[in-house]
Order: sequence, then structure tokens, then C-alpha cells
Amino acid sequence: MKAAVSARYGSPDVLEVREVPKPEPKAGEVLIRVYATTVSRTDVGMLRPHPFLARLFIGLFRPRRTVLGMDFAGEIEAVGPGAAQFSPGERVFGFSPQRFGAHAHYLCLPETAPIATMPADLRFEDAVLCEGAWYADTNLKRFSVEPGQNILIYGASGAIGMAAVQLAKSRGARVTAVTSTQHLDRVRALGADRVIDYTAEDFTRIGETFDFVLDAVGKTTYFRCRRLMKPGAMFAATDLGPWGQNVLLAAWYAMTGSKRVVFPTPKSGKSVVEFIKARIEAGELRAVIDRTYRLEDIAEAYRYVETEQKTGIVVVKVVAEDDE
Ligand SMILES: NC(=O)c1ccc[n+]([C@@H]2O[C@H](COP(=O)([O-])OP(=O)(O)OC[C@H]3O[C@@H](n4cnc5c(N)ncnc54)[C@H](OP(=O)(O)O)[C@@H]3O)[C@@H](O)[C@H]2O)c1
Repeated sequence: MKAAVSARYGSPDVLEVREVPKPEPKAGEVLIRVYATTVSRTDVGMLRPHPFLARLFIGLFRPRRTVLGMDFAGEIEAVGPGAAQFSPGERVFGFSPQRFGAHAHYLCLPETAPIATMPADLRFEDAVLCEGAWYADTNLKRFSVEPGQNILIYGASGAIGMAAVQLAKSRGARVTAVTSTQHLDRVRALGADRVIDYTAEDFTRIGETFDFVLDAVGKTTYFRCRRLMKPGAMFAATDLGPWGQNVLLAAWYAMTGSKRVVFPTPKSGKSVVEFIKARIEAGELRAVIDRTYRLEDIAEAYRYVETEQKTGIVVVKVVAEDDE
């Protein structure tokens, strides 16, 4: 089978799409034929780890995971001994936060991993939205967003931001989304009640205060957003922030017993993908696809995601349409 292999850290130039052995499902595992995957900010961060200390977790001198790719959608090809949850031929989707490995024709995962059968009639490329939705939901859950609450999502055009707008609306919140001019209509179409163009006005002076502020893209700070927050409000971030300040502030506020700033750690599990499936089926969540690449051109996809300018998700079609 073919896979995009990164045997060392570096720019997307280190990626090699080449033949590697096809994995065999062991006991309790399933073998998935991957039709679609994404290149995400996590993949990009794994390829060129920053800060350097991140290597302590993913391999000091060379990457422990040499085939990246978290989101996948495809078909069960085979099941290992004792695996009974899925059958060959079933269309499935999900994400692989421990093993990665979806930038390949085949992926082996424990059947207990976050895998679910695909919603009916959904295209494979529209199903590879789990990672962004997972982070978005983790943050919204941390505050227990409820109907009627006023929430602000900064960076609403990214993978996490676009999922956060939709999931916050599905929880019944009133959503103000901050984005740039080119994304205003798209974000409004996802259900945002108010959209603010951060290139045209200071989003911190819009005459409103909020119960919950989410920096979905790591481009603002708690100190900038403070004046937007009601007493008792919470600020959450998906990125470390300048000098890791979001982690430090979260630790400080945890010690003081207040939850003013939080930096939630997502926990994966089957329930996450089942939740995402339910939202898709209810018409409350959909993928916004920016660009689509072939597996052979995956280095180009990495270069684009590295610009930090993508809208929603960047899809890699592993199996071409004619082969399906
Ligand atoms: N906690 C974790 O483990 C974890 C996991 C995955 C990702 N992340 C982090 O989460 C963040 C978001 O990831 P993502 O995949 O959603 O990002 P993304 O899709 O790459 O976000 C790109 C979007 O951000 C917008 N943007 C760029 N500069 C901006 C600014 N100054 N203000 C507002 N929007 C701006 C861009 O549009 P415009 O430039 O036109 O506004 C673009 O549409 C990243 O920092 C990523 O590292 C964290």
C-alpha cells in the first residue's frame, strides 16, 4: 500500500509517498481502507514540532509516528480475531489521536477506537471533520454552554472555529463570531447570530459582554478579551498563547478556585464520534471544505495548512473517485 511517510522532522519536503507494508489487523483490531483524510494543524505541528520541548512527547530525534493523519473515512476491509463491532464493507469514519496513520491507503485501529458507521448518504470527504469538532466540543463542554447564553468565538473560520459555531448553536447559545471580511458570509451561514470583522473593527469594543469567550485559533489573548467577559464568565483557548500564557493562566485560576481561564485537554473515545455522528444526522454539523488534494500531492496540502490561512478543513482524497 502507499503511505505518506515522514521519517524525520522538517518541512513538507521530508514527506515521501511510497510503498509500505499493508498492516494486518491483530486481535480486537479492524483494518480500514481509507478513502479520505485531512491535513490538520496537528499534523503540521507533528511534522515540524514547536516548541522544541514538544519532541519529548512525540520523539526526541525522530518522529515515533512516521505516518500522520488523524481524521479518516473509509470502509472496513477486514477484522482481526475477536473483533465483532464492525463487518467488512461497512462505511466508517472517525479519528486516530493515538496512532495517527490515516495518510495511507490502509489503517489498523482497535475496534474500541473512535470509529462509527457513516451517516447515510454522507460523502467520505464530508466525514473527515472529527478533530476540529472534538476540540470545539471539548471547549464548549468545559463551560457547559447552555441555551440562551451569550458566547463569542474568535477565529471562527478555522476547523475548530467553524465546528464551534455550529455546535454552540446546537446547544442553543447566542453566538457572536469574529472572523475576517472574506469569511463573514460563510460563518453567518453556519448559524452565527452576529459576525464581527476583526479587520474592520476592534472586536473587544462591540458594546456586548459574554458568558463564554473561546479563542478557537490562538490569535488573541485573555488580557485582550477581559473586557468582553461578564462576571463569572470563562475564557478558553485551543492554543498555548504567547509564552504559553494560556496554560499558566489556566493553572493559576485553577489554584484560585476560579475557572476564569481554562485550557481543556480533549479526551477521546467512541462517544465523541457517536456525538459527532448524531450532530451530522440532526443537520447541526457539516464540514466546510477549503481545498482537496490527492495523496500524491500531500506535501502541497501541508504547505497550505502551514500558512494558517485555511478555511475549515483541507481534505486528502486517498482513493480517487474512479477507484471507489
Ligand atoms: N489544543 C490542541 O491540542 C490543538 C489541536 C489542534 C489544533 N490546535 C490549535 O488550535 C488552533 C486552531 O486550529 P484550526 O485547525 O482550527 O486552525 P486553522 O483552520 O488553521 O485556522 C485558520 C483560520 O484562522 C484564521 N485566522 C488567521 N489569523 C487570524 C487572526 N489573527 N484572527 C482571527 N482569525 C485568524 C484564518 O482566516 P483569516 O486570516 O482570513 O482570518 C483561517 O481561516 C491552532 O492554533 C492550532 O494549533 C490545538
